[in-house]
Amino acid sequence: MLVSGAGTNLAALLDACADDAYGARVVAVGADRSGIAALERAEAAGVPTFVHRVRDHDDRAAWDAAMADAVAAHEPDLVVSAGFMKLAGEAFLARFGGRYLNTHPALLPSFPGMHGVADALAHGVKVTGATLFVVDAGVDTGPIVAQTAVPVLDDDDESTLHARIKAAEQVMLVDHVGRLAREGLHLLPARPDRKVTTA
Ligand code: GRF
Repeated sequence: MLVSGAGTNLAALLDACADDAYGARVVAVGADRSGIAALERAEAAGVPTFVHRVRDHDDRAAWDAAMADAVAAHEPDLVVSAGFMKLAGEAFLARFGGRYLNTHPALLPSFPGMHGVADALAHGVKVTGATLFVVDAGVDTGPIVAQTAVPVLDDDDESTLHARIKAAEQVMLVDHVGRLAREGLHLLPARPDRKVTTA
């Protein structure tokens, strides 16, 4: 799993993995920064971690290749980004394209990008949610695996709404990763070319 922050999605998956019947195991957790709660959570669970900061590499492409190498060293079947705040580059997608999933805190294709929760709130939608999708070269444009809807309440602010989304997002993530582990990666969308296009 790739993380950059609190790691509540990671924690939900680690909790699920504690049951052998779940069928999946987190083999490693990688991050683009150190000192984050997500890494502490992984270490507490005895999961190997690694950190590659962009600024420690010559350029973004070198960082991307280093991340790809570090992930590949653990030979995962599936790579999951949960709150990992960096876009995958060419080297990473060449290695893991089609089996690299991300979660986004909005119902894509609405409200892609860094501010999905705030943008949905500002737009005044009454329902938002979270999306699990296969990462492609675009920003939150890859084929959708699953979505979960969450109501927006009148007195919500970004923090209360994001907390409600994250609770639903974790259930979705745990359900689908477990299903992919037990039933096979062929359940992922078979059309990685299917993209959302905007005029
Ligand atoms: C999630 O809502 C994810 O969709 C977004 O950032 C949040 C990460 O939360 N990209 P956490 O680090 O798993 O707690």
